[in-house]
Amino acid sequence: MEQTARGAWTSRTGFILAASGSAIGLGNIWRFPYVTGMQGGAAFVAVYLGCVLAIGIPVLIAELTLGRHTALNPVGAIRAITKSRYWPLVGYLGVITGAAILSYYAVIAGWTVGYIFRTIAHSSSTFGAFVADPAIEIGNFALFLLLTAGVVIGGVERGIERWSKILMPMLFLILLGLIAFALTLDGASKGVEFYLKPDFSKITGSTVLAALGQAFFSLSLGMGAMITYGSYISKQENLAISAASVALADTLIAVLAGLVVFPALFSVGQEPTQGPSLVFNILPRIFEMMPGGTIVGVFFFILLAIAALTSTVSLLEVPVAFLVDQKKWSRKKAVAIVTLIVFVIGLPSALSQGSVPALSSIEWFGGRDFLGIMDFIFGNLSLTFGGLLLAILVGWVWGTRNAAEELALGAGPRFAALIPGWSFMLRFVCPLIIAAVLLNLTGIF
Ligand code: PFF
Repeated sequence: MEQTARGAWTSRTGFILAASGSAIGLGNIWRFPYVTGMQGGAAFVAVYLGCVLAIGIPVLIAELTLGRHTALNPVGAIRAITKSRYWPLVGYLGVITGAAILSYYAVIAGWTVGYIFRTIAHSSSTFGAFVADPAIEIGNFALFLLLTAGVVIGGVERGIERWSKILMPMLFLILLGLIAFALTLDGASKGVEFYLKPDFSKITGSTVLAALGQAFFSLSLGMGAMITYGSYISKQENLAISAASVALADTLIAVLAGLVVFPALFSVGQEPTQGPSLVFNILPRIFEMMPGGTIVGVFFFILLAIAALTSTVSLLEVPVAFLVDQKKWSRKKAVAIVTLIVFVIGLPSALSQGSVPALSSIEWFGGRDFLGIMDFIFGNLSLTFGGLLLAILVGWVWGTRNAAEELALGAGPRFAALIPGWSFMLRFVCPLIIAAVLLNLTGIF
């Protein structure tokens, strides 16, 4: 396998694991259950699965193809396929979005680290009290950013790939164990029903936006993370299979997380609509009730922290790859400066969970906290908008005919037959649906 100065994944499984590591994270275990709860359960899950299949997978293939073809970061990749002055802005949007998502994602990742110790100590304070302590919030947040920076300095094959290899199978197994336990709890079946028996009358425009945004967030799409990861894949790999494997692993982990959370939630009588605190309130309850729960809980939060780390690494990698490729900065300098900027813009998120009242309930945003607003703007809107532009860029500007040549490398004739279907989805279905969902938000329909 070729090894370039830029670095490359050392094998197909290496790439699939690293990309799955980016995809699988807090999005699956923290965000998916709470958004599902707020959006009414099973009907949302159905729309979500539809979004992954119809939009997520085609856009994922598009990002990987563009990345591998150009072997560059999002800005460089777009410059390589079009002379336009405007399209590279989509790459810049990705670079900014990466830093912005990292700034609050690392705050939540810090909570998972805190919960490792809270579980060991059998802490009795509430989640609300825990996150309202400014010193702990900032400390955990800073620690997590430093860990992320350390891994990213290591570069792709030493840093990112190695971590991902161990994690996914373990996370999968522990979730299966937790599901087996959660399903035995009294009243669990009500949770299963909420989660799996759809009432389609509950679907509104905002459900679809939430589902689409969640699909982009969970698959790490819409900001060029997968362009960047694709840029390290060898030409011998089959991109369609890689994309399908990543999407399958990511979706499976999210669906399993829901099967842990909702049975337990209904069993103990907590509200599904409580929002971002959901899993931090319910998981400790599960560990309390479970035989050997302390050990399982500690192990679970360690795995969750590592899952978050393989995602924060990909968030940081986007601006870093941009500065290294385009601005010729050294990797160390790029990591140091971006990490510092992210720390500063993350402070309001860290302080928005009760420590600073003005940040914790922002009136002109429906009383949401700063972290929630960042998640809505960058974790949902910006990724969805970026996904729309990337679908148009690869589908129409670069053109699926050019993209298909890249996609065919390493794919074999059997897969060539699927390319027209992918092209149709990317050029027509993806832009139309995403545009409709975004326009609906502006109230035009
Ligand atoms: N996909 C990650 C998760 O589900 O936790 C979050 C994420 C990583 C989003 C990288 C976007 C991204 F580019």
